[in-house]
Amino acid sequence: DQLRHILQHMPKAELHIHIEGSLEPELIFALAQRNGVSLAYPSVEALRDAYAFSDLQSFLDIYYAGASVLLTEQDFYDMTAAYLARAHADNVRHAEIFFDPQTHTARGVPFETVINGIWRACQEGPISASLIMCFLRHLSEEEALATLDEALPYRDKFIGVGLDSSEVGHPPEKFARVFERARQLGLRLVAHAGEEGPPAYIDSALDILKVERIDHGVRSLESPELVERLAREGMALTVCPLSNIKLRVFDVMGSHNLRKLLDAGLAATVNSDDPAYFGGYMNANFIAAFEALPLDETHARQLARNSFAASFLDPERKRAFL
Ligand code: HPA
Ligand code: ZN
Repeated sequence: DQLRHILQHMPKAELHIHIEGSLEPELIFALAQRNGVSLAYPSVEALRDAYAFSDLQSFLDIYYAGASVLLTEQDFYDMTAAYLARAHADNVRHAEIFFDPQTHTARGVPFETVINGIWRACQEGPISASLIMCFLRHLSEEEALATLDEALPYRDKFIGVGLDSSEVGHPPEKFARVFERARQLGLRLVAHAGEEGPPAYIDSALDILKVERIDHGVRSLESPELVERLAREGMALTVCPLSNIKLRVFDVMGSHNLRKLLDAGLAATVNSDDPAYFGGYMNANFIAAFEALPLDETHARQLARNSFAASFLDPERKRAFL
């Protein structure tokens, strides 16, 4: 129908995509074979069947296992090129891509292998893309500081830092010093907050880490004071509808709060998070949300506009999209 056509064809930016979460089962098997890595699953189908999650941690365990096939610069290039082609097909014009260096350096893969492969694919298109380096919050702040040091020779290849992995028990304030250091380096700042964690984590991401966007943030609606603040500050939330259903943040798409976030005046955006694991790329996320919720063409245009407005594109390029 017409709304579906608009959702598919409207230009959009993706601001919440973990590149390791774009690794499709077929590519996991192809890379395992190429690299002589053995997998705990006998087939692509068996691996896909394991994608039934009860919460964030049950997903992260499989996501880190999937990433273990990535060894060479070409592997990181191939994964990123596949994502960019897929995003282009959904009329994503610009992507700000998370990567998790610690997932790879902990296995002995050099930092330069990771960033050079991902970066080279981004240079070649077919869409505009920038990189955001995430720290794993289940690890220590000392390890995050060491990762930031290791990244400094590649400072021109990424635009910012983020915070991902297991949220509950690892509040933003655990990473106060490394975010302060990143801020002094002129890096843009984001953090996952309020996905499984409480609204207080969103406040501390803003107050202590000084982030410029909140990744997820759907639990903000539990605090009227926080909603008022987010609206007043025009703070963007990078919402991931299919992720939230697969990780049981909401039971069904019909109870997702995307419409309520928009009605509260919040700068929500739609994103895919880990599309190979959660059942779809950008347009699948838009379509699933719009089929289940009272959202119309006006909301579609607003979400697309929010995605460019909340991007870290330079002002001139941003204006061209708005
Ligand atoms: N939350 C936290 N960590 C993650 C996610 C997420 O949705 N996806 C990949 N790492
Ligand atoms: Zn995420």
